[in-house]
Amino acid sequence: MSTRKSPALLIVVPLVLLASALFAQAPKLGKPISAADLSDWDINILPDGTGLPPGGGTPVDGARVYAAKCAVCHGPEGKGGANARLVGGEPIKNFESEKTIANFWPYSTTLFDYIRRAMPYRQPRSLTNEEVYALTAYILSLNKLIGEHDTMNAQTLPKVRMPNRDGFIVRFPDKTP
Ligand code: HEC
Repeated sequence: MSTRKSPALLIVVPLVLLASALFAQAPKLGKPISAADLSDWDINILPDGTGLPPGGGTPVDGARVYAAKCAVCHGPEGKGGANARLVGGEPIKNFESEKTIANFWPYSTTLFDYIRRAMPYRQPRSLTNEEVYALTAYILSLNKLIGEHDTMNAQTLPKVRMPNRDGFIVRFPDKTP
């Protein structure tokens, strides 16, 4: 019998060693994640406002944040920029129609969720809750869906009725506000 080592072993042994080293560093699968660790990611806002954090903001505060962090892409006062217009929009006629906050979005609370989660485009999750409430108030006010001095917070925001609120077929009617 030959005493020469099989060339296959020369490959397999280091691979097994490498794999066990990697597994040693892997998270302990099966361990429940703590509420504290989850809270950073658990940021869904439901249509009825469930999940909205404490705090609030007005259109005036929002205008200031908007000018500094949003106008460069969305244009002054929410239109005329390189990216989506946030104000106005023609009524939807067909698939090609531009869908906007004013003519399409059914729930005001989605605006808070979307801005907090995704904007500014290059620094998502960088805004404070106060800034997000203020920006939400500013955009709703530019769309004339709230007054110029209305404060948006966890109580007032869910009460703002969007123009296209009834434009969707609701799959689970008793689960929506
Ligand atoms: C670097 C560019 C950039 C900046 C800055 C930016 N956005 Fe956006 N925003 C986008 C892009 C890209 C989209 C995706 C829609 C599109 O334009 O195609 C978007 C989409 C949105 C939408 C959804 C619009 C819709 O009808 O679908 C909202 C609301 C919004 N942005 C708000 C903001 C707010 C508020 C800020 C400031 C905190 C901000 N954005 C800053 C690029 C930007």
